[in-house]
Amino acid sequence: MDMISLTPKLEKESESPLYDQLYRYIRKQIEDGALAVNDRLPSIRQLSAHLLVSKNTIEAAYQQLLSEGYLQSRPRSGIFVLPLEQLPVASVRQMKEQPSQEISEQGRAGTIDFEYGDVELELFPVKVWKKCLAEAMDDRLHEVVGYGDRQGHLGLREEIARYLFQSRGVSCSADQIFLSAGTAQAISLLCQLLPLTERIAMEEPGYNGARAVFVNHLREIVPIPLEEDGLSIEALRGSGANVVYVTPSHQFPIGIVMPVQKRGKLLQWAYEQGGFILEDDYDSEFRYQGQPIPALKALDRSDRVIYLGTFSKSFLPGARLSYVVLPESLADTYREGLQNYSQSVSTLIQTAMYLFMRDGGFERHVRKMRKLYQTRHRTLLRAIHDQLESRVGVIGQKSGMHLLLNVIGRDCEELIQLAAQRGVQVYSPMKHWTNPADCPRSYIMLGFAGLQEEQIREGVSRLRQAWFE
Ligand SMILES: Cc1ncc(COP(=O)(O)O)c(C=O)c1O
Repeated sequence: MDMISLTPKLEKESESPLYDQLYRYIRKQIEDGALAVNDRLPSIRQLSAHLLVSKNTIEAAYQQLLSEGYLQSRPRSGIFVLPLEQLPVASVRQMKEQPSQEISEQGRAGTIDFEYGDVELELFPVKVWKKCLAEAMDDRLHEVVGYGDRQGHLGLREEIARYLFQSRGVSCSADQIFLSAGTAQAISLLCQLLPLTERIAMEEPGYNGARAVFVNHLREIVPIPLEEDGLSIEALRGSGANVVYVTPSHQFPIGIVMPVQKRGKLLQWAYEQGGFILEDDYDSEFRYQGQPIPALKALDRSDRVIYLGTFSKSFLPGARLSYVVLPESLADTYREGLQNYSQSVSTLIQTAMYLFMRDGGFERHVRKMRKLYQTRHRTLLRAIHDQLESRVGVIGQKSGMHLLLNVIGRDCEELIQLAAQRGVQVYSPMKHWTNPADCPRSYIMLGFAGLQEEQIREGVSRLRQAWFE
């Protein structure tokens, strides 16, 4: 494309940073069709010279567009515009207009389940995914019939490395990436194959799925209390552990986004301790307020972070596909340990995911889902504000696919029962506390990713009737 056609009016005096102005300008050009699919963008150097702004500014704007799936970087050829897949017309209409009679009735009649872990299926790109599966079977049968690479499909690992760099700022090679069939299995292998110490520190509360695996591998868990900005570094220092499992981008289940200053302190702890941080970055694609904060792994200068990623939120839990990125110093030990194991992810799924990522399908899907979940998230917050007003507190509302309600002065058992009588299923998050009795009884966890807007509104309205009328 002709570089000169990129002529944003960048205002240096504006409150909005230059990179943000440029990012918004290019995004609008794409959305308006002024930049067409497969148009190649000028290189960072060219555009920086053309607009007379620093390369960092251009890079930051490109980075944001890459992470949101507007652009794709193709090795050795440049940065290109990806197709903007519109939401199917019917769904758009359902989202914008008043819900149809049919949906309202359906919503009212059926049980509304706020279970955490569900993902939206209606917008799942069935055709594209089927095509990837078929292509894997037709053209790559040799790849999918055997056990496959122990570490995981090389092409897929390269795609993951590229994706991590673009979306999370993590710089790693495919050699450092190991695939596994879910986060629990990844943690289990880490416990088996690496010299992780006996004592593991964990945020309290923290993900019960991870805790269970540590406990089953006879690790002693040291619960570390949370402060407003994430786990207490002081308590961590006093814990005697030199491995910690954390969810810095979206603390599970409380929802704290750890600010960059605390990330620095946590890394400092690991450097001083010669310890390791297990960073579980399970749902970082879905952040709705503010700019994405780079992963801890992206800030790690001394290779102390073991990064855990999963496709369960960004794609499908049923794919059973996750990965770890190991520090270079641990990769060989782990690889050696793997000699006695086979890769646990189906080779068919690995190859199909490779094709899906290679052709831009995954980035498009994530972008589409981010928009959709953001709408649902907003709808849920609005419904809570309108219907439940000051009778509840909302905890952890910046990102993710769930939030917590604090139904002040009430007890979860009663709340769950009353909700069930009105056809709404809600849950207590208590299983995520080391000692479940420590979980405040007034907490209720709402997962919203698998519910349509109308169901969310109807569900919250029923909660008001159930709890307060
Ligand atoms: C904190 C956390 N990590 C990871 C996962 C995903 O686990 P898996 O990759 O096994 O589906 C979840 C899912 O609920 C989670 O809450």
